[in-house]
Amino acid sequence: MPVIPSLLTACTSRSGGVDSSAFPSSKDELILSDGLSYKVLIQEGDMLNDKMVFGTENDYLAFIPTGSDEGILWVNHEFVNPMFASGWEPDKARHRDMITTEMHMVGGSIVKIKKEWGGDWKFVKNDPINNRLTAASMIPFEWPELVAGNRSVRGTLANCSGGVTPWGTILTCEENYDNFYGEYDYVTDSRTRSKLGWERFFPDHLPQHYGWVVEVDIRTGSAKKHPGLGRMAHECATVKALADGRVVIYTGDDQDNGCVFKYVSLEAGKIYPGNLYVANMDAGKWELLDIARPELAGKFADQTELLIRTREAALLVGGTQLDRPEDIEIDPLTGDVLVSLTNNKPKGVYHGSILKIREEGDYDAMTFVHDTFLTGGEESGFSCPDNMAFDAAGNLWFCSDISDDALNKPPYDKFGNNGLFVLIRNGVDAGKIFQVASAPNDAEFTGPCFAPDGETLFLCVQHPGEGSKNLSDLTSNWPGGGTTIPRSAVVAIQGDLLRTLQQVV
Ligand code: FEO
Ligand code: CA
Ligand code: CA
Repeated sequence: MPVIPSLLTACTSRSGGVDSSAFPSSKDELILSDGLSYKVLIQEGDMLNDKMVFGTENDYLAFIPTGSDEGILWVNHEFVNPMFASGWEPDKARHRDMITTEMHMVGGSIVKIKKEWGGDWKFVKNDPINNRLTAASMIPFEWPELVAGNRSVRGTLANCSGGVTPWGTILTCEENYDNFYGEYDYVTDSRTRSKLGWERFFPDHLPQHYGWVVEVDIRTGSAKKHPGLGRMAHECATVKALADGRVVIYTGDDQDNGCVFKYVSLEAGKIYPGNLYVANMDAGKWELLDIARPELAGKFADQTELLIRTREAALLVGGTQLDRPEDIEIDPLTGDVLVSLTNNKPKGVYHGSILKIREEGDYDAMTFVHDTFLTGGEESGFSCPDNMAFDAAGNLWFCSDISDDALNKPPYDKFGNNGLFVLIRNGVDAGKIFQVASAPNDAEFTGPCFAPDGETLFLCVQHPGEGSKNLSDLTSNWPGGGTTIPRSAVVAIQGDLLRTLQQVV
């Protein structure tokens, strides 16, 4: 049996001060454990064809195989840093053409990739499947009513994490939508201003049209928004198929005190129609979000408005407020539903945890039990867990998301830059956590995704240099080095260590 500590140093040894590994690091590099190496597969600004550009701030990845050594990669593009994306200069005015440029940098990319002789993955420029979904694409709602006056709306944005359906479509989740067009307040009948200020140039693009889960057919690039799954800062949409073809979809509202939700479809092979529930952790119950409930009747004009205001409805039926629920994955070894709770600084929760939900029955059960699976902090060697993925042996790979303005400062100074970690599940090292990668300055790793053969881990490097005040004072120059502007990128990680870890069963 391979002995993992000869390759890696467990994070827990840090508390004894004997960590001899490269981690933690605060270097502006993508540093990997011995036995791993990476190549940049594609980066922000690369052209997919003559017209379409690979977007910025890449997050969730999904790989759909189309052959033994080829496949289609879906990549979410979450946010824009106007200084890098559209030429805006700090303290200068914003212009409509900047916003238009930025609109084409978010959404998602559909990219054909192939493994070449020698084992390296390359993206196939000009492949006919290459496509983009942007904040300018027209997207219909899969819903019987108009949504804030529209049946079809302009664009998807804030695309954070997502999921894959059993029928091969991608779910891409609109997370911090209020950064783009602000938020609509039904109580005061007013609209808040956004960070990016897009609403000043496109006032017809209403906040209620964003914050949804969007289903994408990657073969055609067509998409539809699913109001049935509610409106919030959707982190992810993790799909579990039931034996009869219906699906259960778990999603979290990534804000301080956000809730966890699950959606259960009513018919096989499709998402709509279905029911949305919120988790009441104290009662161990999934609470239905339906306008017919006495607690909800009269509070909203109809079910559509209830779903637009999902956060308010969730609290009215006893939804439990959690510590920023982010990624959700189903544990292949136990069947448990794992939920990253990144942090909740206003409540003094700085390092977060991973929550374990066990359904009492199949995944459409209405009751569950729960417990803490892992707790972040100096003892465990990681902080602020976010994106997760399981490998073929059931090891849990997870990325940290310490915000760029908090990195390397108390109470996060012991953790260095953000990292990629693995929890070993089998063999003599079962239960140990190892750090396997450290991100460039200000960046977080996102979208961990294994190729089906387990030989490659695709991973995104998101927002390197995010803390830069201007282009002449950059905090990162990754991946180009020198004085180049930092770029988000997808990397392909390979090496013996991937094989070793997946052999330990
Ligand atoms: Fe986009 Fe909650 O991370
Ligand atoms: Ca995330
Ligand atoms: Ca995050």
